[in-house]
Amino acid sequence: MSTEHRFPAAGAPPGPTITVALTGASGMPYGLRLIQALVTAGARVYLLYSQAAQIVARQELDLPLPARASEAAAWMTERYGAAPGQITGFGREEWFAPVASGSNPPDAMVVCPCTMGTLAAIAGGLSDNLIERAADVVIKEGRKLVLVPRETPYSTLHLENMLRLSRMGVVILPPNPAFYQHPTTIADLVDFVVARIMDQLRIPHAIGPRWGEQRPATPGRMDSQQPSPASLAAAAAGVSVAVSAVQASTATSVPDDL
Ligand SMILES: Cc1cc2nc3c(=O)[nH]c(=O)nc-3n(C[C@H](O)[C@H](O)[C@H](O)COP(=O)(O)O)c2cc1C
Repeated sequence: MSTEHRFPAAGAPPGPTITVALTGASGMPYGLRLIQALVTAGARVYLLYSQAAQIVARQELDLPLPARASEAAAWMTERYGAAPGQITGFGREEWFAPVASGSNPPDAMVVCPCTMGTLAAIAGGLSDNLIERAADVVIKEGRKLVLVPRETPYSTLHLENMLRLSRMGVVILPPNPAFYQHPTTIADLVDFVVARIMDQLRIPHAIGPRWGEQRPATPGRMDSQQPSPASLAAAAAGVSVAVSAVQASTATSVPDDL
């Protein structure tokens, strides 16, 4: 039996299938936290990532994403406590992957973080690698596509590409955390964005408070809740410790076949 058929367990209600593509924009913590949240919510995750995403993951998190996507999926399965087969990785030219065909589309796809290059390619329908093709399939099959584009400032070309995609029904969800919830850690900022993505996917979650369900902000309180340099340093240290564990578990020599 293939791993795809081992999740969900026989008789269990199937969770949604979500394709998550990591591309080489800054913001890798958003993508990884999203995968974790999807696993927790019982979704099946199809994992794709670009070569540039490997470079950014190493640069931002000291995370050596393996060249072989199946190995990254195995690592994430262990790290996030996923069921066997809940996360499946596909290489960037794996054209026999289910996401490559409209006959087997996922329920939704998220590109997070999304580069301006991949955004332009999707807007132009290039389908030159599996991420672009999977997005093209999701659009043509009328499924939800959420892009989390990261660049600043946006050029006119970036904005035109986003408008073109938005007119096709693609959700453009820039990673813009709000501060009205009094974030005190980097994880709070990441969670705000991931919660909004989960909302777009209509997947129930308990990530962070919701507006109207908490004490309203007051000007004085806002100042007293600013993250201190010490809390930011502690958050960074936490990331560093987690990343060390990742490095230990992914320090494998793998062929460059993505
Ligand atoms: C550390 C680092 C950060 C980058 N950040 C961004 C970014 O925020 N947005 C962006 O559009 N490109 C960014 N780039 C450039 C892209 O990685 C590059 O254009 C790449 O070709 C995109 O390929 P992909 O879309 O296949 O991932 C960054 C590159 C590096 C190395």
